[in-house]
Amino acid sequence: MAMMDNFIRVFFILTVVSGAAYAKKPAAAAKESTPAYDAAAAPGPGAAATHPFDITELGAVSDGKTDSTKAVQDAWDAACALEGEQKVVIPTGTFLTGPLNFSGPCKGYVTVQIDGTLLGSNDIPKYNQGSWMVILHVDNIVVNGSGTLDGQGPLVWKDECKVLPNSLVLDFVNNGTVSGIKLVNSKFFHINVYKSKDVTIKNVAITAVADSPNTDGIHIGDSSEISVADSTIGTGDDCISVGPGSEKVNIQGVTCGPGQGISIGCLGRFKDEKDVTDVTVRNCVLRNTTNGVRIKSYEDVLSPITASKLTFENIRMEDVANPVIVDQKYCPEKTCSDKKGNNTVTIKDIVFRNITGTSSTPEAVSLLCSDQLPCSGMELLDVNVEYAGRDNKTMAVCTNAKGYSKGSLAALACL
Ligand SMILES: *[C@@H]1O[C@H](CO)[C@@H](O)[C@H](O)[C@H]1NC(C)=O
Ligand SMILES: *[C@@H]1O[C@H](CO)[C@@H](O)[C@H](O)[C@H]1NC(C)=O
Ligand SMILES: *[C@@H]1O[C@H](CO)[C@@H](O)[C@H](O)[C@H]1NC(C)=O
Ligand SMILES: *[C@@H]1O[C@H](CO)[C@@H](O)[C@H](O)[C@H]1NC(C)=O
Ligand SMILES: *[C@@H]1O[C@H](CO)[C@@H](O)[C@H](O)[C@H]1NC(C)=O
Ligand SMILES: *[C@@H]1O[C@H](CO)[C@@H](O)[C@H](O)[C@H]1NC(C)=O
Ligand SMILES: *[C@@H]1O[C@H](CO)[C@@H](O)[C@H](O)[C@H]1NC(C)=O
Repeated sequence: MAMMDNFIRVFFILTVVSGAAYAKKPAAAAKESTPAYDAAAAPGPGAAATHPFDITELGAVSDGKTDSTKAVQDAWDAACALEGEQKVVIPTGTFLTGPLNFSGPCKGYVTVQIDGTLLGSNDIPKYNQGSWMVILHVDNIVVNGSGTLDGQGPLVWKDECKVLPNSLVLDFVNNGTVSGIKLVNSKFFHINVYKSKDVTIKNVAITAVADSPNTDGIHIGDSSEISVADSTIGTGDDCISVGPGSEKVNIQGVTCGPGQGISIGCLGRFKDEKDVTDVTVRNCVLRNTTNGVRIKSYEDVLSPITASKLTFENIRMEDVANPVIVDQKYCPEKTCSDKKGNNTVTIKDIVFRNITGTSSTPEAVSLLCSDQLPCSGMELLDVNVEYAGRDNKTMAVCTNAKGYSKGSLAALACL
């Protein structure tokens, strides 16, 4: 190690063979240091790369079995250490890898072009409770291509007691784009965006079977100026969830289903959460999902936060069980007191506009707000979702919700 430290890092790349995807460990945790490739062939520091960092030139083997973690990590480390526009290329083929530590800050602008398929290793202890592809403290990052991140979830979904890795994580990223790629069968969430700013996710396709556990499509938390556009997401959990601390989030042109729909929340569940504000969900289709557009807050609140200025408009529902739902009694583990609850999350200034299509249950609209703090400034405008069955009539169930309805189906105009 000591000798290695005397060399310029661009020539000798520290490789993390094992370890958490983003545990806060010192760099000394690196187990092994080896020259990644012929130093003479590498571009000099400061110079624009003469060629992209193709993982197959760094030892990756396209057989879906050989562990290619080191080659991918070396490609990242090399690209991140150079100024100018750099590119990591995962060409067509199938490559198996464990946790990938794409840490910054980088000297230049890095694009990770994924044209092949990466398979996420099922050796769970290797992830050390972290995630799979972790982009951490990197600005101006692009992840694109026509390839796939295959989490191989079906082989580990049964291990419910284990902490399973998310597939793609953006932590502390400023100015990022994820586009074109497919994500399938993540072990846990497919994409997790945390403490990031100015991130666009577009033209992605995310799929996992309807009964897969915790396979949320995209989760966003503690982030601002995040846009999700023109994507198709069908999983076993939330299509997109926007958690505490999110602001200026724009979701549009997304088709969801199967899964649990687009959710704001869960809110109030943990200590020190921050408000959610300024979220727009527009021009989306929800197909065969359990929820359409939902705001959920935990029944026993630990952070009395506020969710405000949320707009859901031009949304088409197709056989959705709960098309429009505010649920302030959310408590999936049934660990909350079954008394009154103490829901002190404030929900205000929420617009549902031009929501059409079919509901698979009679309750097309449910606004179940807190007894302690009624929802206020609620608007149901042109909400026309009809129960598709014949046995009952379409209806709305609204408690503790204040606001007004206009242009909506009479049975749904509960405000
Ligand atoms: C990830 O890489 C960064 C930069 O090389 C390093 O500081 C950090 O310790 C690494 N994280 C892990 C979990 O190995
Ligand atoms: C954001 O990142 C992209 C891609 O690297 C880059 O082209 C663009 O200049 C960056 N924007 C800013 C404001 O730095
Ligand atoms: C990926 O992003 C880079 C950098 O913005 C861009 O030059 C390239 O055309 C993109 N490739 C695809 C396939 O979108
Ligand atoms: C709806 O989703 C369920 C799983 O949640 C699936 O069994 C069913 O076939 C789907 N129906 C349609 C019409 O796609
Ligand atoms: C209700 O929650 C608030 C914090 O949100 C807390 O300060 C208060 O003590 C709780 N009340 C009860 C009766 O649990
Ligand atoms: C209502 O939303 C649908 C998409 O679900 C869209 O096609 C239509 O133009 C919208 N109507 C208005 C008046 O914006
Ligand atoms: C229809 O309404 C009846 C009477 O209110 C109720 O018992 C039944 O569960 C309802 N069916 C559905 C599918 O909600």
